[in-house]
Amino acid sequence: MQVLNTESALRMHLADRGRSGSVGFVPTMGALHQGHISLIKRSKAENSLTVCSIFVNPSQFNDPRDFERYPRQHEADTAMLENAGCDILFSPSAETVYPGPDTHTYRLGPVAERLEGRFRPGHFNGVASVVKRFLEMIRPDRAYFGLKDYQQYLVVRHLTEEYKIQTEIIGCETVRDPDGLAMSSRNKLLSPTDRRKALELFKSLSAAKDAVKRGEKSGLKSIGENYFIGSEKPRLEYFEIADGETLKPIGDGDISRIAHPVALVAAHVNGVRLIDNMALR
Ligand code: PAF
Repeated sequence: MQVLNTESALRMHLADRGRSGSVGFVPTMGALHQGHISLIKRSKAENSLTVCSIFVNPSQFNDPRDFERYPRQHEADTAMLENAGCDILFSPSAETVYPGPDTHTYRLGPVAERLEGRFRPGHFNGVASVVKRFLEMIRPDRAYFGLKDYQQYLVVRHLTEEYKIQTEIIGCETVRDPDGLAMSSRNKLLSPTDRRKALELFKSLSAAKDAVKRGEKSGLKSIGENYFIGSEKPRLEYFEIADGETLKPIGDGDISRIAHPVALVAAHVNGVRLIDNMALR
């Protein structure tokens, strides 16, 4: 695996891609887990060259403390990528990613304004900024995003359509621990007690999905929210039922007419903000 830090080194290595076939890209902020590795494996299966980036992007953190405490483990990440057979690890400095001030406002559509967009102002603009920059530097044929960040996946899809970026955006299933907790870099910040509490996110989503399986069509938001009542529970930011294409929330309303209803949740466990989601059909 080549470890590259500069745009010129990256361009040099990618220069003869025409001869070597397609390029797959997995953008990350490091603190890698098996969810990331599943993206690398998918990219390897579908492309002749796989590039993974590690960059903890300051512009997408609306809370500076969250940026400070975001887990960083460069050596362990490098070893994991090497083992997974990644071809290029691109790990640029902030100056390489943002040679000038990062002040542009991107057109991301209504999907970016809902849910995470409401609770984390500026977050998706920061994601758009770094993803667009990486897609321009790497020009991959395909880029792989975990569906745990479902809204991010929809926003990035919108970004590539809006700015006519020729990369196919591929959403990959959330990878879960055996007890259901969605894998996330932030899980590394949880104590064993916190981790047990964090399971309420999965339980609340599963309860909404089970209700749909039993034939219930409405009241699903309340079913999920009930999992967060009590001082020992994670502090709920939102539990929402939404249209899976637009993320327009439907609250406790009837899901019958929605082709792809999805439940989405964000909650804090001992200061660590976690998100998860589940397709309801
Ligand atoms: O999902 C993430 O880890 C980040 O938001 C991403 C896509 C790497 C952009 O910084």
